[in-house]
Amino acid sequence: MSVWHRHYVWGLSLKSNDRENIMPVIVVANPKGGVGKSTLATNLAGYFTFQGYNTMLGDVDVQQSSRSWLQLRSQSLPPISAWEIADGHIAKPPKGTTHMVLDTPAGLHGGRLEKVMKIADKVIVPLQASMFDILATQEFLQKLKEEKGKYQVGVLGMRVNSRTRAAEQLTHYVNSLGLPVLGFLRDTQNYVQLAAHGTTLWDVAPSRVERDIEQWRELIGWVEG
Ligand SMILES: Nc1ncnc2c1ncn2[C@@H]1O[C@H](COP(=O)(O)OP(=O)(O)O)[C@@H](O)[C@H]1O
Ligand SMILES: [Mg+2]
Repeated sequence: MSVWHRHYVWGLSLKSNDRENIMPVIVVANPKGGVGKSTLATNLAGYFTFQGYNTMLGDVDVQQSSRSWLQLRSQSLPPISAWEIADGHIAKPPKGTTHMVLDTPAGLHGGRLEKVMKIADKVIVPLQASMFDILATQEFLQKLKEEKGKYQVGVLGMRVNSRTRAAEQLTHYVNSLGLPVLGFLRDTQNYVQLAAHGTTLWDVAPSRVERDIEQWRELIGWVEG
């Protein structure tokens, strides 16, 4: 959506020279649970803050996974601020915020989904390569596709080995919907362990997570592009 439209949504009236300061909002969404939304959202926020961006992470999930994760995060690490969202009301971010990531719950639909999508600049849909996951996400991807123009949409293969038949099939399917695949993240305990400590790929020794960081390259290029 346009910067000005977003101002309208948040009821802001900013001077024109504030325009450059408006931050991109990256929404992570998939109506299915357990597909890696919170893993993706937290690591993406971790990347932004590692880059020195003034980063906020919001969570419209009642389970508040990202929110709980933030509470585990040590103050000695690059900071990520909690973006307050209560009762579906998305608060205006504080001045100086440059990058915003929004984690969303499974089953998000209807008015609540629309509210979130209204402020999205880019939507990333993590998708696992099983038939069940693809079927459960089909309708959602089609809906996002119809809204194209309001925001950009990309799919991230989650827990997929990029050199398998499953990755090929996922790419074929996603491309047939006219959407890009932004890469594949492998299945690794690294994500599970990092999450348990409130950390991300960018908070630990690069040698430990080299292979994983490499897999984020394309996604990051798309997000920053
Ligand atoms: N690439 C991955 N490799 C291994 N485990 C993963 C990966 N991505 C997510 N997980 C694990 O899968 C579970 C569900 O992921 P989560 O991010 O909470 O999904 P969602 O937010 O969509 O419900 C979590 O235990 C998480 O640690
Ligand atoms: Mg989650």
